[in-house]
Amino acid sequence: MVHPHSDAQPATRLVTLGRQAPADPGFVNPPVVRGSTVLHADVADLHERVRRNLAGDDSGPVTYGRHGNPTNIAFLQALTELECGHRSWALPSGLAACTTAILAYVAQGDHILVVDSVYGPTRKFCTGLLARMGVQTTFYDPALGEGIAGLFRPNTRLLYLESPGSQTFEVQDVPLLARIARERGAVTVVDNTWATPLYFQPLRHGADVAIHAATKYIGGHADLFLGTVTCNEPSWRALRATVSALGLTASPDDCWLALRGLRSMGARLAQQRATTDRLVQWLREQPEVLRVLYPALPDDPGHALWRRDFTGATGLFGVLLQPAVGRAALERLVDATRLFGHGYSWGGFESLLIPSHPERNHPALPADALLLRISVGLEAAGDLLADLDQAFARIRAGA
Ligand SMILES: Cc1ncc(COP(=O)(O)O)c(C=O)c1O
Repeated sequence: MVHPHSDAQPATRLVTLGRQAPADPGFVNPPVVRGSTVLHADVADLHERVRRNLAGDDSGPVTYGRHGNPTNIAFLQALTELECGHRSWALPSGLAACTTAILAYVAQGDHILVVDSVYGPTRKFCTGLLARMGVQTTFYDPALGEGIAGLFRPNTRLLYLESPGSQTFEVQDVPLLARIARERGAVTVVDNTWATPLYFQPLRHGADVAIHAATKYIGGHADLFLGTVTCNEPSWRALRATVSALGLTASPDDCWLALRGLRSMGARLAQQRATTDRLVQWLREQPEVLRVLYPALPDDPGHALWRRDFTGATGLFGVLLQPAVGRAALERLVDATRLFGHGYSWGGFESLLIPSHPERNHPALPADALLLRISVGLEAAGDLLADLDQAFARIRAGA
C-alpha cells in the first residue's frame, strides 16, 4: 500500500496522492481503472502472484495491467455469465477476437474447417497469414449438416462457424456440427456477433468458444472497437496463453463502454427488432425485391434452426433485388436514401444501408446477385419507411 507521504515534497505528492479513495459500493457502475503497474505488498507477495500466474491460476490478483484490469474483468464477468462460459477475454477489435480464437488452437501442419459465409477479413486471415504459417483451411458450405464429417482430416483441429453469416444469413446447426467436431477432437468456435449473447449461447449448444465483435450490438453506439472470446473450461488455457504471448489486451475505457452498452442492449434490440419487422414486411411487398434474407421470416431457409436454437433476432438483414433492377439502379437506390447512412459496421443506434458483395467458394447466390445489407438503428420506423419509399420511387421513376 502506498501512503500519501504528507511530509513529502510536492513532486512526490503529485505521484502519491489520490490513490486510496475506496470505490463507493453504492455506485452501480465500476470505475474505469487505467493502469499498467500493479504494486505488490512485498517481494514475497510479488513472487506468489508470479508463481500463480505462471501456473495458469488466473483467479487472483494480477502482476501487471496487461494480464487483467478491474474494469475489463467487470465487463468480462458479465459477458461470461451471459454466454454460460468459464472465462472470457477482451481484445482490441472483433477481428482480433476471430483471428486469436483460431490461432490459439492450431500449429504448423494443422487443418481447419471454416464456414464459407464467414466475415471477409476472417477469411483473408485464413488464406493469408494462417496459410503462411502452414495451417490449411477448407471453406465449407454453411448448409452442411452431417456431411461435414467427410471434410475432417486426421489433422483437423478446429471447426469455425458464424451463424447466421453477416452477409447471407444462413443459420447453422450448431449442436450437430459441434458434436461431430468434438467426436473428432476438434475445437468448435462460433462467431456469435449477430445474435448477441442475449439471443444465442453457443457454449450451451455444444461449442467450445464464442466470439463477439462487441463493436456491434454490445457497444451499440458506433464509438468503440472491441472483441471478446468466451471459452469453456477445457479451451480456456490455450486462449489465455495465446493472448499472453501476443500481448493482447483491450482498453478499460472500451470495456467500460461495452459494459454500459450491455445495460441497454435488451431495450435497443427489442426496438430494433420491431422496426426490422416493419421494414422487412414493407420490402417484401416491393416489386423490385426478390427476397429478404432474415432467419426470423417463416419462409427463410434457416427459420427452423433459428426457432429451435435462438431466442430472438437482431436488426441486420439482407435484401436481394430482382436481377432486372440492374447494378446501376441498386447504387442509385442506396444513394437516394437520406436517413440511412452508407458505411460499414452494424449494430449501432444509426441505420445503415450498403451494397453487399459476399466472397464465396460455395456461392449461395448468383455471382451477379444484387444484394443490399441493412442494419436497423433506433430511428422511428415510420421515418425509415418513408426514406425507403422515396428512394424506391426515385429508381422507379428512372431518376
Ligand atoms: C460477423 C463479424 N465478426 C467480426 C467482425 C469484426 O469486428 P471489428 O470490426 O470490431 O473488428 C465483424 C465486423 O463487421 C463482423 O461483421
